[in-house]
Amino acid sequence: MPRIVETIVMTMNATGEAHIAPLGLIEEGDAWVIAPFRPSRTLDNLRQVPFAVASHTDDVRVFSGCLTGRKTWPTRPAEKVTGVVLDSAVSHWELAVDGISEDDVRPRFTCRVVHTVSHRPWQGFNRAQSAVLECAVLVSRLKMLPPEKIEAELKYLEIAISKTAGPREEEAWGWLMERVEAWRGEPKLRA
Ligand SMILES: Cc1cc2nc3c(=O)[nH]c(=O)nc-3n(C[C@H](O)[C@H](O)[C@H](O)COP(=O)(O)O)c2cc1C
Repeated sequence: MPRIVETIVMTMNATGEAHIAPLGLIEEGDAWVIAPFRPSRTLDNLRQVPFAVASHTDDVRVFSGCLTGRKTWPTRPAEKVTGVVLDSAVSHWELAVDGISEDDVRPRFTCRVVHTVSHRPWQGFNRAQSAVLECAVLVSRLKMLPPEKIEAELKYLEIAISKTAGPREEEAWGWLMERVEAWRGEPKLRA
């Protein structure tokens, strides 16, 4: 399996509007592949403006926020490419699209790292931060995964939250749980 790094990807459209989305970047030699499922604003933007900024952040509220409609996070301009960097980034990569591999489901944008910046030392991840990240992935797939699987995974992830969450992780978890509660109230389609 390739290495996949979970990052916050910022892209821009032709009119200069920035878009934020959590995405797993796939390592491919010296390159990183961005693989958005269709339809996706990130995908549309990468076709219009072939640059992206991948911000590595330990503030998991950004992952949770993006999945729950809270997409306004402080940013500043990137240094070498058209785009913006998350202010809370511990480090970031500025990426240029070198090639596109078309696919009906999930096109792949192969990106070259143009510039890497380290802003402060990485302080490590605790279990609650990992649990928020995993829960954000679950929330992004609520309509695709079997409900039993979602409930079982939430039960496990809650343990890490109850044992190790600080205020940021509590807030991030709370936003995701609001989304989960809404999903619990929806009728489920069964095969
Ligand atoms: C940790 C994490 C990793 C994700 N990785 C991907 C990915 O690689 N591809 C993708 O299409 N969506 C991924 N998602 C879901 C997207 O963030 C979400 O669907 C987003 O809205 C993308 O669509 P957009 O570009 O239209 O905003 C991920 C979500 C999380 C929380």
